[in-house]
Parts: sequence; structure tokens; C-alpha cells
Amino acid sequence: MKKRILTGDRPTGKLHLGHFLGSLSNRVRLQNEYDLCVLVADYHTLTTKPEESREIEGRIQSIVLDYLSVGIDPEVSHIYIQSQVPQTAVLQLIFSMFTQVPRLERIPTLKEQLRVLKIPDASLGLLGYPVLQSADILIVRANLVPVGKDQESHIELTREIARRFNGLYDREVFPEAAALIGEVPTLVGTDGQEKMSKSLDNCIYLSDPPEEVQRRVMGMYTDPTRLRATDPGHVEGNPTFAYHDAFNDNKDEVADLKERYVAGRVGDVEVKKKLAVAINRFLDPMRERRAKFEARPRIVQEILAAGREYATKLGQETIDQAHDAMGMLYPNLK
Ligand code: TRP
Repeated sequence: MKKRILTGDRPTGKLHLGHFLGSLSNRVRLQNEYDLCVLVADYHTLTTKPEESREIEGRIQSIVLDYLSVGIDPEVSHIYIQSQVPQTAVLQLIFSMFTQVPRLERIPTLKEQLRVLKIPDASLGLLGYPVLQSADILIVRANLVPVGKDQESHIELTREIARRFNGLYDREVFPEAAALIGEVPTLVGTDGQEKMSKSLDNCIYLSDPPEEVQRRVMGMYTDPTRLRATDPGHVEGNPTFAYHDAFNDNKDEVADLKERYVAGRVGDVEVKKKLAVAINRFLDPMRERRAKFEARPRIVQEILAAGREYATKLGQETIDQAHDAMGMLYPNLK
């Protein structure tokens, strides 16, 4: 039997190049070796934006097309909506009994969310975000979780919860899931300051048309210490070169640009023009795949229906196993 991967994203908008390096590339690479489950974490979006629930549907459509465009193959992999696997919520309830509140308060992503979104007090739902994520992972008994570096602490919690459950009820119901962090842990945004984030408008999206990519690249931050093209420039910490390293498959061109940049023999404009060409070359196959799927009406609905069936079946097995381990199948009351 193949081991299982579970990973997913909140449907908050279009996926970008940072998502690709952080997690999507690993999903695509491993989908034949593992049983790949990808979930669209709609409930998770409610932890910070419960008022935007009516916008979720359209965003799910868009994220599924993003998945298909990067090459997640619906013939071998499963894509489903979190809220359509209600067993997840049952598992979160059980897990919440083994999770101390101060443990959750120490998780760095919580502090980050409160800070960035200027939320004065965490709701119970937001505090429980990582517990819900643990339930996402363990409801399908996944072994491996490809995620961005910022999610590592959530996977660690998932392992703690699995160990605690298995220990307490003396049965190996849950595997200890490992995180698989992308090669380039975090891709800096086009502003060169923060990681890519929709609200900061510093992203290049997988679905951006070529002209948009060009426009965004030409507006990128480079080496702030360099005033003229003849000044020796810095490659380290320069976002244009971080992107060249990540996306330009013409390694000789990258090496040549770096050499000339440091020597003050190339301007930012040439570096950026070549970068835009390289990123567009990288995105072209995704554009083709997206167009093919977009031409098939109802394909997204069909994929999600199949994913739902698969995940709810696994989910019910898991709940039954958990209840059984806990003595809560109540055989004498049947
Ligand atoms: N928290 C993840 C993120 O913000 C999304 C997510 C929800 C997830 N459930 C998951 C990722 C389960 C991996 C596994 O990116």
C-alpha cells in the first residue's frame, strides 16, 4: 500500500509562485509515489474572516484550477473540500481534549495572524486552527505533509496529538506525520520585504498573463545600495536573483548576470527583462494545462465529488477506529 500525503490551502485567492516552491512542486513530484490528497480548507478561512463565507465558493473554483494547472493529476490524486468531510470536525473535537490552551497560544502562526490582521483577541476557532489542521491530516491518516516552512509548528502539534491519543488508548490509530518543507523555504515577495501575500500586493500569480508577469517583474525591488548600473551590485538578498535562482532554467544566463551584476556591468533593467522571460517560460506549460481543463465544463465539480467520496469513506473508518480504541463504539448498546 502506498503511503499517503495530505496537504491543502485555504481558499483565500489565487495561488502564487511562493505556493509553488513551498508546497505545490512537492505535491506534483510525489503524486505517483504516494496517495495524494489535497484539501481546500474552507473552514480554516472562517478562523479569521467569517464574514467572507459567501466568497468561498468562487475561490474554490479558482484554486482547483490552479491545482490542475500545476499538474496535480485528478486521475491519480484526490482533491476535496474540507467542509464536505464532516468527520474532520468530529476528530477536531476529540483532539481538542488533548490539547492544552497555553500550548496553542505559543504557536508562532497565531501571534503572527493576530499581529498582521490586528485582531485583539483570538476566537476559539482561531486558537483551534492548528487542531483543525491536525484533524485534516489525521482523518485520512496521512504520513507526509508538504507545506511551507511557516506551517512546521502545526505539523509538530499534529505529531504530539497522535502520540498522545495512541498512548492514552494504547493503540496505533494515528501515524506520526512528517512535514516536507519546500526546497526554497520562503520566497520573498516582489517588494523584497515580506513573503508573498495577497494583502501586500507583492505576488506573482500562477494564473497571471505574460504582460502582468512582465509588469510585476519590472516593478520589483533590487539592490537598494546600488544607485547606478556601473556600481558593483549585491546578488545576496536581491529578490531578482532569488527569483532567477528559483525559476530561470537557463543557469548559464543566471551565472553570467550575477557575474556582471557584481562587477557593475549590467543594469537592473536587463536583469528584470530576462527574469520576466524566464518566469513566463516557466508558467507557459501551466497556462496550457489550465486552458485544457477550463474547456471542460463541470470538470471541477466532478473532481470535487470524487474527492469527497474518497475522503469521507476514509474519514468514517478513522472515526470508527478512534471510537473503538476509546471504547466509544458502545458495542453493548447496539
Ligand atoms: N494552514 C495551511 C496554510 O495556511 C492550510 C491547511 C489547512 C493545511 N489544513 C491543512 C496544510 C492540512 C496542510 C495540511 O497554508
